[in-house]
Amino acid sequence: SPVRWRATAEHGGRFDDHMGNEIDEQPAVAARVLDAFAGGIADGSLWRSLGLAGFDRIHRVVVLGCGTSLHAGIAIGRVFSDLGHLPVTALVASEASSFVPEPHTLVIAISQSGETADILRALDALSFPDRTLLALTNNPYSSLAREADAVIDCLAGVEIGVAATKTFVAQVMTGVAVALSGLCGSARVDRVDARAALEALTETPLRLDAALRGWSDSIPLLTEEFADASGFLFLGRGSGVVYAAEGALKLKELTYRWAEHQPAGELKHGPLALVENGTPVLAVDVGDRRLDINIAEVLARGGRVVRIAGVGPDPVGDLRPAPPWGPLEAVVPLQLFARSLAIRLDRNVDKPRNLAKSVTVD
Ligand code: G6P
Repeated sequence: SPVRWRATAEHGGRFDDHMGNEIDEQPAVAARVLDAFAGGIADGSLWRSLGLAGFDRIHRVVVLGCGTSLHAGIAIGRVFSDLGHLPVTALVASEASSFVPEPHTLVIAISQSGETADILRALDALSFPDRTLLALTNNPYSSLAREADAVIDCLAGVEIGVAATKTFVAQVMTGVAVALSGLCGSARVDRVDARAALEALTETPLRLDAALRGWSDSIPLLTEEFADASGFLFLGRGSGVVYAAEGALKLKELTYRWAEHQPAGELKHGPLALVENGTPVLAVDVGDRRLDINIAEVLARGGRVVRIAGVGPDPVGDLRPAPPWGPLEAVVPLQLFARSLAIRLDRNVDKPRNLAKSVTVD
């Protein structure tokens, strides 16, 4: 029977800061997205209800966003490329002016606020014939939503913490639901893959919850261990790379410490020079054994490795292959770690310095 999650944190929660409660709410948010949209995946009706052109008319997908929303877009884009075999371009909104348009492109603009100036300006560069614009936003009344051919509300609820957490989970869940619905209505997709992906999506609330529980004891220990570290490396391979990127972004935003993310294979082409005795390296493991070689390179230089595999800190981890959008639950320990270290360093986790929730200037 379906598990119901209590979304109590929206009306309080166990932490004094909003971010802690928003991280806690993620299983409930994922379950809400499934309640709303999962029924329209297998029969393709979610896609059709958005009024989008037939899936087989799309020749290319562009995901557009900034910051955390861009990361959500990259995760969503992998569903179109891995399962739909479509070329996917991830476009940083502030750099969209150099984009070369092509007909039959689906542009998915992802913005929790729907008011980010970079996104709204990018729409000018991306206005060309035979383009469909789908807005994926937490604000269906936003400027972005008004510009779009189709709008889907990612149903995260109000997010107060400046650093995006539950809106990220909601965006990935909603975008993947839409992508799978389109694929299920298309001749292009392998039914078995689509069914497996839908099953993995349905399990997400449980996996997010297991990650919250699984990491709760080790996060304070990692925080103490790395409290004095001046810089952090985040690594991943394949679908894990974007979660490494999101982990590094959260750490920068919240702790004001330097953090860099890399596809792990790039380590040997430069960033390995940064690793010295005690350098913290957080590695998102999606079961690509080449990551072990990269980790061994770090350990040989005295780096301290935290492997993020499956739903807990067990070094063996959960070695099931990640779904096309990657191990969404891996974001949980990365968010928890960034928040915990920020609190240890006496930072304001809800209002990091120099940042705003919604940036309406260039
Ligand atoms: C700001 C926020 C980020 C967010 C980005 C995109 O920089 O501080 O947390 O990811 O804007 O915001 P959007 O509303 O477009 O998702």
